Amino acid sequence: MTPSAWALAQAPHRDELLVEQAHLEKKAAAAAMQFLFRVPAPAAALRGLSALAREELAHFERTLRLLDRRGVPFGPQAPAPYAERLKQGCARTMPERLVDELLVAAVIEARSHERMQLLADARRADDVELADFYADLVGAEARHAPIYVELAAHVLPTDAVAARHTALLAHEAAVLRALPFAPRLHSGAPAEA
Ligand SMILES: [Fe+2]
Ligand SMILES: [Fe+2]
Repeated sequence: MTPSAWALAQAPHRDELLVEQAHLEKKAAAAAMQFLFRVPAPAAALRGLSALAREELAHFERTLRLLDRRGVPFGPQAPAPYAERLKQGCARTMPERLVDELLVAAVIEARSHERMQLLADARRADDVELADFYADLVGAEARHAPIYVELAAHVLPTDAVAARHTALLAHEAAVLRALPFAPRLHSGAPAEA
């Protein structure tokens, strides 16, 4: 669990976080699109994934609009190492690898949800526009994690999926512990004062 001190320490970095948010939404849409081609799930489940991809693109556009309104330029940015390190915990062979990649997507969605809620709460006192923005996005991110877990259950039995989910959450905890604090949504906790 992320300490609330993490969101307080992000206060001076809100522009950089917002630029990253646009990149993250774009990446989330691209990842969902890729899974559409790879996951052998029935049409109903793929429809949910397609809707998720569209929702991430809507978030991307919404974040770009907010950047524009706040006069913050959107441009290239070095990505945080979080997602790449999570993927290093994935199995190498199919179909286990596909399940792990879907579960990594679920882990990222869940962590994004937690952190955006913390940012919404922390900004409520000093930046209502930003607090409302994060609060609006949080609801969607809460719905996204279970969609990926359900898709994984179309690839392997649910008990195997649950075991891998637990293992990847432990891997994520180790990844976050090793990461320094940075102006990124998935950075490590700030050093204790
Ligand atoms: Fe999103
Ligand atoms: Fe999402």
